[in-house]
Amino acid sequence: MAEAFNDLILPAEKDERYAALADEIAAVLDGEPNLTARMATVASMLAASFDHFFWTGFYVVDADNPRELVVGPYQGTLGCLRIAFGRGVCGAAAETGQIQVVEDVHAFPGHIACDARSASEIVVPVFDSAGGLIGVLDVDSDQKSAFDEVDASWLQTIVHKVFSISGAA
Ligand code: SME
Repeated sequence: MAEAFNDLILPAEKDERYAALADEIAAVLDGEPNLTARMATVASMLAASFDHFFWTGFYVVDADNPRELVVGPYQGTLGCLRIAFGRGVCGAAAETGQIQVVEDVHAFPGHIACDARSASEIVVPVFDSAGGLIGVLDVDSDQKSAFDEVDASWLQTIVHKVFSISGAA
């Protein structure tokens, strides 16, 4: 078997794994509208798919404070409970509505270190079918530069399919 660059995974293999994962997630969630169930399933199935993901989960927009994220379903070590819009990587994604790919979290201004092992991360904003921000999907790796445009593209596709549909509530 070929050596994976940077102990990670070869791009073609990664693409195939994401494609299979997207189908599996869609199959498991077929007919399930509950938002918590949908987030918990995505967090669990993502965590099980890639060895170098050590934290996968959601921060959701707090209903009582729409400028704050509160932790939602996740897999991994203890995450911080609340993140203000604009703070850290998750807060930047929530504030801008733009995906954040961070090769080295220690070089990111205001990064919130929930776990010292976190080395790189990707955060994808999550929108509902009306285009409103529901929260963000946060995936952390213990390896630097773990995420690239393949991860960005697939995670956006998965999040769009799972949450930007009418019927998810
Ligand atoms: N690293 C994140 C905080 C959340 S945890 O990593 C689970 C950030 O700076 O947004």
